[in-house]
Amino acid sequence: MPRLSVNVDHVATVRQARGGKNPDPVTAALLAELAGADGIIVHLREDRRHIQDRDVEILRRVVKTKLNLEMANTEEIVRIALRVKPDMVCMVPERRQELTTEGGLNVTAQQKALKQNIARMKKAGIRVSLFIDADPAQVKASRAVGADFVEIHTGKYSDAPDEESQKKEFQRIARAIAQAHKLGLRVNIGHGLDYQNVAPFTSVPQIEDYSIGHSIIARAVLVGLDRAVREMKELIQPRKEK
Ligand code: PXP
Repeated sequence: MPRLSVNVDHVATVRQARGGKNPDPVTAALLAELAGADGIIVHLREDRRHIQDRDVEILRRVVKTKLNLEMANTEEIVRIALRVKPDMVCMVPERRQELTTEGGLNVTAQQKALKQNIARMKKAGIRVSLFIDADPAQVKASRAVGADFVEIHTGKYSDAPDEESQKKEFQRIARAIAQAHKLGLRVNIGHGLDYQNVAPFTSVPQIEDYSIGHSIIARAVLVGLDRAVREMKELIQPRKEK
């Protein structure tokens, strides 16, 4: 059965806009689990623009499904992961200027550094996924450095300008998934998947986990707005004295 892991980073983005406590990504994670999410994902960025260290520590204690920590392969974040022990980490490339993770990891170019830290994670009982583009060389290198999973980047598929190029991207991703599976890697996918574009992937049985954030949080804002406004409207009505 394919699983859905929900990325709650954007809840923290809204919280950080005011620097307060609300909305709380931990509460969002628990609500997502109640709704059937099979896992919770957060990205502890080096610049801490959304998720904070404290969030990760609390999530580790309260998430009942599976906690997946997205992270750059840097010593600071590796040490945090080894201490907090999420169920899984997904190593991603990270650039401070980017709005979101823009491309996959260049595994072929960083084999030594990745191999060392993957071994440290696995020794601590943490499964390791590498976020890569649907590129045969990257899939092969992911196997060589000892990853358990690859997460195939679906950003180009999601951003495809027309149906024809989206179909091509889909086929490229499907080929990478088949290759990874054949090499014994487990496969997740994610980035830019939404309510309109996710359906074709249901024909690919090797996908274990869909990693989705933006579209779910964006939809939650809209489908929740009606109730939020009604509740506030009710609160500003003058109370009748008893
Ligand atoms: N997978 C990885 C590795 C990511 O970096 C992200 C974005 O944080 C996602 C999946 C989820 O992408 P989206 O927010 O577009 O659903």
